[in-house]
This record gives sequence, structure tokens and C-alpha cells, in this order.
Amino acid sequence: MGEIIKIKELRRTFQMGNEEIHALKGISFGISEGEFVSIMGSSGGGKSTLLNILGCLDRPTSGEYYIDGISISKRTRAELATLRNRKIGFIFQSYNLLARTTALENVELPLLYNNTLSSKERKERAMHALSQVGLQDRMEHMPNQLSGGQQQRVAIARALVNDPVILLADEATGNLDTRTSYEIMSLFQKLNLKGKTIAFVTHEPDIATFTNRIIQLRDGHIIKDTEVEPKLASEMLVGLPQNEDY
Ligand SMILES: Nc1ncnc2c1ncn2[C@@H]1O[C@H](COP(=O)(O)OP(=O)(O)O)[C@@H](O)[C@H]1O
Ligand SMILES: [Mg+2]
Repeated sequence: MGEIIKIKELRRTFQMGNEEIHALKGISFGISEGEFVSIMGSSGGGKSTLLNILGCLDRPTSGEYYIDGISISKRTRAELATLRNRKIGFIFQSYNLLARTTALENVELPLLYNNTLSSKERKERAMHALSQVGLQDRMEHMPNQLSGGQQQRVAIARALVNDPVILLADEATGNLDTRTSYEIMSLFQKLNLKGKTIAFVTHEPDIATFTNRIIQLRDGHIIKDTEVEPKLASEMLVGLPQNEDY
């Protein structure tokens, strides 16, 4: 199994006026192909800071980061953006979809940077990604015509469309009710079973039980890193009342 992510002694310090905030204080771990990892911890522990670095949205103050064997240090901003577009699918708590733009067009967006694809191929790949998340009937809907759970599915399809080496999600279920959260976790479990490597940030212990490994962050340090037997999200759905948010 290849190592998709490798970090060594990663630190991130923010300067706030005269004060230095040490959000990450030298953390190291690896994530192998096929893993489904949750990064847990209370608010302010450094989860988002870490995920933003893993997603090439931010750089460490010091330490090493390799994604799919490629070191990110000494890369220009443009190179980082390309790396991010090719290697990473990022999912935000707030979906970050473009308004007044159909689900299909939202999912096609990451492919616009790839000029080897024809518009027909772009459309086919976006349609395939939307059907992977169960939204084949909602391709022409605008975000405001979709429920929260459906909007998050569009965001997951957009993250999948480039076939990234890893999906990174920051509190992806944070705006969703319990049932919809379990549905989204069930979708992540299906994608993971098909081989997709996933790292997921959450502050909810309940959500972390659906992943195979839990990394616990506190005050910028890893305090625990354990493999666990995941619960099946689809089983948790049995008996929960239906809602229209699917
Ligand atoms: N851009 C920033 N500027 C200054 N401080 C920041 C910035 N981002 C995060 N921090 C600080 O770093 C620490 C970790 O924050 P964060 O990674 O957002 O934690 P979490 O996602 O676990 O809640 C906090 O003390 C936070 O205030
Ligand atoms: Mg956060």
C-alpha cells in the first residue's frame, strides 16, 4: 500500500500582533492508500489548520509534507494550486457551491483547469460523479433548489470529479441533521470501500466512529492515534425517521 500523505514535524505558527499562536506544534503521521481517517479534537485544537495544510490551501511554518510522494516545500503558489487540483478533493462544511450555477456545472468546475478534456468529456465525467453520489436526477438543479444534504453531495461529486488521491473534508456534516449526517457518512463509507482514501475532520465523537482510524489533536499535538472497527452508517439509519433531506 502506498503512502498518500506523509507529514514530519509539521508546525504552523500564526502571528497576531505581538503574539504568536502555535496552532500545530510539530506533528508527524502518515496516511496509506485506502484508509478512512478522522481527525478529532475540541475547538481550537488545530484541526482546520492541519487540514488546510494537507489540502495545500496553506503552508506549514516548518516541517515536511509529501502528498503522493511529492514534497510541497519549495513549490510556487501556482505549482501548489496545480497539485491541489490534481491530487486533492476538498469538502467544506458550508458546501461552497456557486449560486445560480447548476449542480452539473458546479461539478465540472475543477475540470476547466484541465485543457486536455473536451467539453463533452467534462460533462460525462461530471455526470458520472453526480451519479456516484446519487444525484443523477438533480443535475440541472441550482444549489438553492437542493436540500443541505443534496448540496453537500454536489460538493462531494465536485471533489471526486478529478479522481483525487485523497478526499479531505472539514466538518462536512457540521450543518446537517443527524439522519442526513449518517447518510453522508454512509456515502463516504461506500466511496472508501471502492478504494478512495479519505481524511475527515470532526469534533463529533459520534461521526468519528464511522471511520477506521481516529487521530486525536489537542493544543496542536497528537495525543492519540488508534485504529478502530468502524460502525456501519447504513445500519445506524435503520429506524431513524425519514426526512425529505435526501
Ligand atoms: N488565520 C489564523 N490567524 C490566527 N490564528 C489562527 C488562524 N487560524 C487558526 N488560528 C488559531 O489556531 C488555533 C487552531 O485553530 P483551528 O485549526 O481552526 O482549530 P479547530 O479547527 O480544531 O477548531 C486556534 O487557536 C486559532 O485561533
Ligand atoms: Mg475547525
